[in-house]
Amino acid sequence: MRSLIDILDLNTDEISQLIDKANDIIANPAKYCEKCKGKKLATLFFEPSTRTRLSFEAAMYELGGNVLGFSAAQNSSAAKGESVADTAKTTSCYADIIAMRHPKEGAPLVAAMNSSVPVINAGDGGHNHPTQTLTDLLTIYREKGRLDNLTVGFCGDLKFGRTVHSLISALSRYQNIKFVLVSPEELKLPSYVKDVLKAKNLEFVQTTDLDSVMPELDILYMTRVQRERFFNEEDYLRLKDSYILYTERLINAKSDLAIMHPLPRVNEISVAIDEDPRACYFKQVLNGKFIRMALILMLLEVE
Ligand code: CP
Repeated sequence: MRSLIDILDLNTDEISQLIDKANDIIANPAKYCEKCKGKKLATLFFEPSTRTRLSFEAAMYELGGNVLGFSAAQNSSAAKGESVADTAKTTSCYADIIAMRHPKEGAPLVAAMNSSVPVINAGDGGHNHPTQTLTDLLTIYREKGRLDNLTVGFCGDLKFGRTVHSLISALSRYQNIKFVLVSPEELKLPSYVKDVLKAKNLEFVQTTDLDSVMPELDILYMTRVQRERFFNEEDYLRLKDSYILYTERLINAKSDLAIMHPLPRVNEISVAIDEDPRACYFKQVLNGKFIRMALILMLLEVE
């Protein structure tokens, strides 16, 4: 039995298999509509979510399975003091697979250690978000036709952005990726993620100036400054609008730039850009359902 806690739990061959499977699901949805008949997914969300929870639920329904769970900690016995370990043991009695989001880093790992069914990390604090990374990799592959030979810009809150940490970790295993890290000084990529790039001798630059690096980017991965991770509201208010992507900022960008964002968006991408053919963030939303369908099939070992 396998869980997915960190994107590195999957090797690159397995990621390719998941991308191929997701593409086949997109092309032939009817082939998959009863694959999980009789199976149940539990969505245990101790932190707010729109995309991740709903895409997991849509994924299981489109595989012919059923869904149970809760969308806030206060609707579960965690509000009465139940531990993550006991919640996982309990949920394994009712479901065949669990997707868990939790504000505490490492909580899904604790759940996996105490569960008798596979556990998927649906985001743990400022740490990891491996299924968003699978979504991002599928989107990059569908937009660019490859996962190597790319210059990828990450912009915004690189300190607390778990989607950034997971995607950098994943892309560090592909050939000739150049990482361009754009953030305010206070929101720079944590050392433990940067150390991965250094240890592998991968090319990366850090800057505060988005406009100066825009022309070289194949992918621009925008992120939200995450209010919920700040200890001090003043710091959040000072940093929240550090980078706003307006149409004019794209004048020197490549014509085939892929603009990505894990969403939710607050203010960092102007809605006018939604009409630009380079905007991929709502394609990411849809891709998230298909890659999660592929992942559920893999972890449940459904042919
Ligand atoms: N991308 C993402 O995790 O979105 P939600 O917080 O809405 O699930």
